[in-house]
Amino acid sequence: MSTVKIQHISKSFGGNVVLQEINETFHDGEFITLLGPSGCGKSTMLRMIAGFERPTSGELYINDRLVSGGKTFVPPEKRNIGMVFQSYAVWPHMNVFDNIAYPLSIKKISKAEIRKSVEQVMDITHLTQYAERFPNQLSGGQQQRIALARALVSAPDLLLLDEPLSNLDAKLRESMRFEIKELQKKTGITVVYVTHDQTEAMAMSDRIFLLHRGIVQQVGTPNDIYNRPANQFVADFLGKVDFFKGESANGRIVFPGMDGQSVRYDGSRSGKVDVAVRPENIYFSADGPLEGVLETQYYLGDVDDCRVRIGETLVRVIANGYEYQNLKEGQQVHLSIRDMMVFEDDGTLEQMLEIRT
Ligand SMILES: Nc1ncnc2c1ncn2[C@@H]1O[C@H](COP(=O)(O)OP(=O)(O)OP(=O)(O)O)[C@@H](O)[C@H]1O
Ligand SMILES: [Mg+2]
Repeated sequence: MSTVKIQHISKSFGGNVVLQEINETFHDGEFITLLGPSGCGKSTMLRMIAGFERPTSGELYINDRLVSGGKTFVPPEKRNIGMVFQSYAVWPHMNVFDNIAYPLSIKKISKAEIRKSVEQVMDITHLTQYAERFPNQLSGGQQQRIALARALVSAPDLLLLDEPLSNLDAKLRESMRFEIKELQKKTGITVVYVTHDQTEAMAMSDRIFLLHRGIVQQVGTPNDIYNRPANQFVADFLGKVDFFKGESANGRIVFPGMDGQSVRYDGSRSGKVDVAVRPENIYFSADGPLEGVLETQYYLGDVDDCRVRIGETLVRVIANGYEYQNLKEGQQVHLSIRDMMVFEDDGTLEQMLEIRT
């Protein structure tokens, strides 16, 4: 089992600063996801933990052992880590069993022991029945599981996964997410997972480590990050959100772009404010403070995705069918806001307001 301690880690390539002053501890048995847009430094962070990349400054500890920092640098093969890359490479000329056994076969380990370890990981990755097959006789998801099994067979302290599901189709990706999560629960292994897919991060992680341009924006549980985003970037990156310009005065926020209509506000900011609302936190209600015209509605099966025009602003509303079942496009409607985020001038969250009218 394993912990990772990241202290004052920065990384530059030439003059290009890719990661700045990263500090965080990943706890034993945690499923941590490094999340962020393309190029934000996720793979670089993972590769530094693995030992494929040296930090420019700072220290890295795995299980309280310094693996990188000062004059110390422990190479990847001595870090007891299992890793799966985006382009998982399975050997086409070896069957499933031999592919998985490979990392052990190059060590001095008896055949009997190898068999025992391989059988164990084939069991948890549901590959036992395919032991004799060759990769080209298997589906993408099954091949992906070979790569996972191979990363697990040496009983690593830490499992590092860099976008391991990106080659798979949507349905398979969803079921593999579940399998990786189950596997982590079964083995109790600490996992650091890289993805730029926010849904994947939300579904799998104990905590999400959200990066943007090499700077940590927020670290927290999926619930924290979704419901209390640290700043506008985070609010925008996770989930759907609409931003509105408002003006705060006398206990209300007025929206000039919505014909000057307003909602209640008991926060401390005055003057111009940036407000964000998730479309599932706006709902149709006869006595709602905002009034507009239902412009479009799309039936999505479980919910309805609607647009309401208020002045020059189109407000998105994700409603369940029950709320709006009698409404027609072109009709006058009233809206209430359930939760609203109000931001400071620097883009950080001032407060999350629960509004009920
Ligand atoms: N060996 C390298 N030499 C120079 N620049 C590099 C090197 N590796 C990465 N970079 C740069 O560092 C930045 C971060 O790259 P990184 O691969 O960590 O991003 P990422 O978050 O994993 O992105 P993606 O989601 O696209 O995989 C990028 O701007 C990239 O061009
Ligand atoms: Mg990457």
